[in-house]
Amino acid sequence: MTETKTETEAKAASGTETPSEAVAFPQNRSCPYHPPTGYPSASRGQESVSRVRLFDGRTVWLVTGHAEARALLVDPRLSSDRENPAFPFFAERLATTTQRRVELIGVDDPEHNVQRRMLIPSFTVRRTAALRPAIQETVDRLLDTMVAQGPPAELVGAFALPVPSMVICALLGVPYEDHEFFEAQSRRLLRGPEGSDVEAARIALGDYFRDLIARKRRDPGDGLLDELIAKQLETGAVDLEELVRLSQILLVAGHETTANMISLGTLTLLQHPEQLARMRAGGPDGMAPAVEELLRFLSIADGLSRVAVEDIEMNGVTFRAGDGVLLSTAVSNRDEAVYPAPDELDLGRGARNHVAFGFGIHQCLGQNLARAELEIALPALFDRLPGLRLAVPAEEVPFKPGDTVQGLIELPVTW
Ligand code: HEM
Repeated sequence: MTETKTETEAKAASGTETPSEAVAFPQNRSCPYHPPTGYPSASRGQESVSRVRLFDGRTVWLVTGHAEARALLVDPRLSSDRENPAFPFFAERLATTTQRRVELIGVDDPEHNVQRRMLIPSFTVRRTAALRPAIQETVDRLLDTMVAQGPPAELVGAFALPVPSMVICALLGVPYEDHEFFEAQSRRLLRGPEGSDVEAARIALGDYFRDLIARKRRDPGDGLLDELIAKQLETGAVDLEELVRLSQILLVAGHETTANMISLGTLTLLQHPEQLARMRAGGPDGMAPAVEELLRFLSIADGLSRVAVEDIEMNGVTFRAGDGVLLSTAVSNRDEAVYPAPDELDLGRGARNHVAFGFGIHQCLGQNLARAELEIALPALFDRLPGLRLAVPAEEVPFKPGDTVQGLIELPVTW
């Protein structure tokens, strides 16, 4: 894709910048728990709004300041609509898919609000709290299996992925027996490597949910999907294809992200033994702030993408309508103005107002669920396996590239 005219104009309006000055986005992390060092950061005396270059040479805005990110994430002049031809996809495989429509996360208000309101009752603090015993049971069962099989183990496959995958299946009413199929499809959806993989994964998941919904219409169960069929599909409030796409986003968002937080959170704690000891000593009351700090520190969903639909002034520059705007949650969450010594993991800091779940109308719908899973899974893992340690040198733990949700590909451990 060539650079849009508005972006060329915006560059002229914003002064001296030339494409060669714009750093590449995304970049890979050099340490799995720190943001890429190549992004401009206000904490290093750099601009908190700058220009970056995408895979196709297009330059877009990158926002790395905490205050700026929060102001922009509530600004209706920024759109999340992937069908807008100027939407800034940051990987070729995402830009080349023909079916760009993504429900909820890729829809603007007022339509977005209608979809969100259908789902909110299932994700409240109270509804999520009611799921805690089932989450605990899932976690305990997986740890029993790990103990029974004995060390070593690969923690992503044995624990980090199955916990959220089983939980979201139970919540939606999706049979967990199908997990290998949909985990493989979400991998393709998020990581490709080609546009054709993304497309094929969407088609395969679409077929899967069309079939599952048909079966549930004949034989209803008690999951969220069954509730949506009864209250939204049968009443005509949504059509089948919209429900199919909504189911996909809930399933994929519901397990990939939390799985990455569990695996990367575990590695980070192992690499910060004094903080791990603090977490273990803090008991259940210390878990909520510890998880909040891990969310801030790891910011696994980096690079939230938007397109300006009107001109926006920000820090003395103008985003023109049609400009791409990316928001780095990882760098914004390391903003020294908000978090002193931001590159230090400090489980007692009470990391309020971080943007690891985004902010504004698209702020993570599953955040209460994710918190509950992390608050249960992480202490249970270390209580059950107090001798848990890496089975390979830390630098050999394979982690995901910068153009997807951050996390570990594998985590070999022993105890
Ligand atoms: C620790 C784990 C998680 C992280 C870090 C995370 C992060 C995020 C972020 C940053 C956004 C905002 C995206 C944007 O503004 O463009 C988001 C939205 C969303 N998340 Fe999560 N998420 C997590 C877990 C979950 C879970 C467990 C679910 C369960 C279904 C979920 C469902 C969603 C949905 C549906 C949206 C779109 C909401 C909307 O557009 O209104 N997420 N998430």
